[in-house]
Amino acid sequence: MKLVVTGASGFLGREVCLAALRRGHEVLALGGSRAPTIPGVAQARAFDLCSEAALEALLLEEFPHAVVHCAALPTIETCLADPARAKTLNTEVPKKLAQLCFHLGAKLVHLSTDTVFDGVAGGYQHTDQPAPLNLYGETKAAAEIEVLRYGREHAAVIRTSPIIGNSVGGDRGLHERLFASWKEGKSASLFTDEIRQPVEASNLADVTIELCERSNLSGIYHWAGTEAMSRHEIGVRIARHFGLEADKFVRPISRGEVPAATTRPRDLSLRLHPLAGKLRTPAQSFDEQLAQLRVPRGCEDWYEQETGRKVVRRLEKGVDF
Ligand SMILES: NC(=O)c1ccc[n+]([C@@H]2O[C@H](COP(=O)([O-])OP(=O)(O)OC[C@H]3O[C@@H](n4cnc5c(N)ncnc54)[C@H](OP(=O)(O)O)[C@@H]3O)[C@@H](O)[C@H]2O)c1
Repeated sequence: MKLVVTGASGFLGREVCLAALRRGHEVLALGGSRAPTIPGVAQARAFDLCSEAALEALLLEEFPHAVVHCAALPTIETCLADPARAKTLNTEVPKKLAQLCFHLGAKLVHLSTDTVFDGVAGGYQHTDQPAPLNLYGETKAAAEIEVLRYGREHAAVIRTSPIIGNSVGGDRGLHERLFASWKEGKSASLFTDEIRQPVEASNLADVTIELCERSNLSGIYHWAGTEAMSRHEIGVRIARHFGLEADKFVRPISRGEVPAATTRPRDLSLRLHPLAGKLRTPAQSFDEQLAQLRVPRGCEDWYEQETGRKVVRRLEKGVDF
């Protein structure tokens, strides 16, 4: 199958390209400002998705069987920094992609987020109504409507949770951001009453490719790991996994102590059915996710001093991790 992957220079998009290659597909990897460098991907380029005419020309020329759309402004902060760009990239681009995929008869797998919910009830089902609390959630919720308007039969929307994993730059995964603070001598203050359900990047990537392969699966789905827990517990388990003293590196705080927390949903736990029953890719426990994490690049010396453990520096097919 020929796949176009957007956001391929980003955290998840890179993993999606690697998953597609593992499963024997041909990949055109699109970055935004940077051409992705991914081992095994023959076709990769920088490409501004906000240029509608260029996007149309590209897809008509490439005529892919499927598009996995990972490009986005994927945080509350980046959306607030440039609201116009957030609306274009997070809502208008997926709408255009859905129109084009409908025209081409291609499958569209669109990445959405748990942040479309307000976090009041938790345990969200795929049929629950979005009620975003912030601009990021609003732009992604609006995209879901547009994608399904044009792609009810051939588009799949995956709402997912905070992604953990090893990123190339060593700064995108949850544990990598914690390590960056720890290395600076700062403990991380994490909410004991904000609930998330982390997912590992390569597992989520496998799901996106399986959805490309399964023409009968369309509509909105939820995917994450199997365990919902507080951000504080996530931090504690990451610290312990690496043999670090949790009490020293992770500080518990409650949402009541931070006024800005009101724009952050409290409980974004997701129910994974019906998708979990339909795929070969299994949802992972948090321990299975932790087992894949490595000491981030640039933190090895600090880590070795702190724990006395030796870190194996890795080279991944020419990419220095
Ligand atoms: N990360 C999470 O924890 C999380 C949680 C839930 C849902 N999601 C969703 O998962 C998806 C992937 O997130 P991510 O964390 O992998 O994002 P990311 O690492 O920030 O990557 C974003 C990608 O979008 C590209 N991009 C930005 N502007 C572009 C433009 N104008 N034209 C083309 N490409 C552009 C970037 O390219 P350059 O960097 O080359 O400019 C980059 O490749 C998003 O839809 C996000 O909403 C993420």
